[in-house]
Amino acid sequence: MSRYSCRDGVVSINTIRQRKEAGGKISMVTCYDAAFARLVESSPIDMVLVGDSLGSVMLGLDDPTQVTMEHMVSHTAAVSRILRRPLLCADLPFLSYQSSPQEALRNAGRLLQEGGAHAVKLEGGQQVVAQIKTLVSAGIPVMGHLGLTPQSVHMLGGYKVQGRDSKVHGQILRDAVALEEAGVFALVLELVPRELARQVTASIAIPTIGIGAGPDCDGQVLVLHDLLGFDPEFNPRFLKKYADFAQGIQQALAVFNDEVKAGVFPAACNSFE
Ligand code: KIV
Repeated sequence: MSRYSCRDGVVSINTIRQRKEAGGKISMVTCYDAAFARLVESSPIDMVLVGDSLGSVMLGLDDPTQVTMEHMVSHTAAVSRILRRPLLCADLPFLSYQSSPQEALRNAGRLLQEGGAHAVKLEGGQQVVAQIKTLVSAGIPVMGHLGLTPQSVHMLGGYKVQGRDSKVHGQILRDAVALEEAGVFALVLELVPRELARQVTASIAIPTIGIGAGPDCDGQVLVLHDLLGFDPEFNPRFLKKYADFAQGIQQALAVFNDEVKAGVFPAACNSFE
């Protein structure tokens, strides 16, 4: 493909910005590997996030602070080898950007150069404005993330709704404006009251993408494995499961096991002469 060709349907940060201007909604899911990237590629989903939720979903880690740049680069590369149409955003993990704008630039650059991401996401408000400005002036699109910021889970005292009190409510509103001014192209709002998400969405021109933030955001994101119903034990209030793969997979494994043990599989048609 030539450097200047633009394939129909390919989602860019301009598509995402224009969707809000046109009053349309934006869909985003997480994805961490090539097998699921193939399925997402053939869906109409707009944006894919290689989130640091990969720590719990894919690596069995207890805590998002344990996710490293090596994890993020490796999983982002697996997804980008397949993905062509949706916009691909990758999380900057804990301590890959907080210490300085230079560190943020070095690590965001790795997610683009080695991982093949189109954009990066980082958590926080006014304290990360310098990092965002540095990335944007280097030509790296940045998505913000406010509300429940999982990399600060220990500071926040757990996975709790943020902004119920007026102090944090006001801080999130001010942070959203600061992030927009710093140059983010979109903003994730996680676990905030519906009214706060509505106010943030109305007060900035860039799209808000909600998770546990109610219906008034410009878009919605869910963890792919959650919306597909991979974990019967995970049922937070904000989640809607669009499939029950846990049950389907368990059934398939039980039937395979039974057929192997009964000598039914492989049948003649599964065998070579
Ligand atoms: O890591 C992640 O999956 C996220 C989404 C929940 C927004 O940050």
